[in-house]
Amino acid sequence: MAMSDTSDITMEEGEIPSSDDLLRDAIAGLSAYPKTLPTKYLYDAEGSRLFEEICEQPEYYPTRTETALLHAISEDLSEAIDNDAVLVEFGSGASTKTRTLLDAAPQISIYVPIDISQIALDEAANSLNADFPNLNVLPLIADFTAPHTLPEATRNRPHVGFFPDSTIGNFAPEAAVDFLKSALITLGEDVRSILGADLAKEESVLISAYDDAQGVTAAFNLNLLARLNREVGADFDLEAFSHRAIWNAAESRIEMHLVSRKNQTVHLGGKEIAFAVGETIHTENSHKYTYDMLAELAAAAGWRIEKSWISDPYPFAVLLMGAM
Ligand code: TRP
Repeated sequence: MAMSDTSDITMEEGEIPSSDDLLRDAIAGLSAYPKTLPTKYLYDAEGSRLFEEICEQPEYYPTRTETALLHAISEDLSEAIDNDAVLVEFGSGASTKTRTLLDAAPQISIYVPIDISQIALDEAANSLNADFPNLNVLPLIADFTAPHTLPEATRNRPHVGFFPDSTIGNFAPEAAVDFLKSALITLGEDVRSILGADLAKEESVLISAYDDAQGVTAAFNLNLLARLNREVGADFDLEAFSHRAIWNAAESRIEMHLVSRKNQTVHLGGKEIAFAVGETIHTENSHKYTYDMLAELAAAAGWRIEKSWISDPYPFAVLLMGAM
């Protein structure tokens, strides 16, 4: 394994949340009612590692389902990708699913993974460089929800966006539209994108996917509190909170909460935060949109759906979209 080499990584100042941002956002979220914490803070090095582990849990069907679907349709997807294309992935993590596309579409010459985890980007770049020697990997450390200027080397080449992992479902509908608009700004005109999104299905399947028997999702959620203890000196007792996943049918989304197991007070940044027994911190949503809803969100952001595929028995959609 090569040593970590970050020399090719572009870092965007002001985009990566600092510990000041973390403290400020945490105090704001925990002072609100109901209490919340911003989702993006789930993905520090430990959170990114735990997320990879979630993807391997038997109950977490989305990763396996999407990977199998991408495999099955990889030739169709490859046909939609021009020669010397630049593949830009939004929230790339370990870039695992990207490999399916890169295998099927060797005409992709540059890959720009965008993520806020430097460690995840380093590891992904190292392993892709080893396995795809003809591919130029140009990572961008940034909050992928905002528009970005892509590296100089990507100019005047066809661009393809890649949004796998049902990340679109982690945005509320309005934020999903904003994200799809901002991706269009980053990618430029006359582009295509491949989007993977989990669809609504039986509640029991959803709940176990987000509350696995091994407790990995619970550890992932609780890591948010551990992170506040590590990085901003909070004093959360991790034993005094538990993970809960609930299905909100009205909003068609899985909600992740951390539930206080007793009446307690937590200190952070000179503030006292009181929790009543049973009170929750809402940490994440995973919307399970229908195909029609996805098409509506895409259209509102300036994308039209060129082709789509839906898997069986667990409905999961891959959409090939073009800029309108
Ligand atoms: N994009 C993933 C999803 O919504 C993220 C995710 C999976 C997640 N499991 C989680 C986020 C648990 C928070 C907690 O499926």
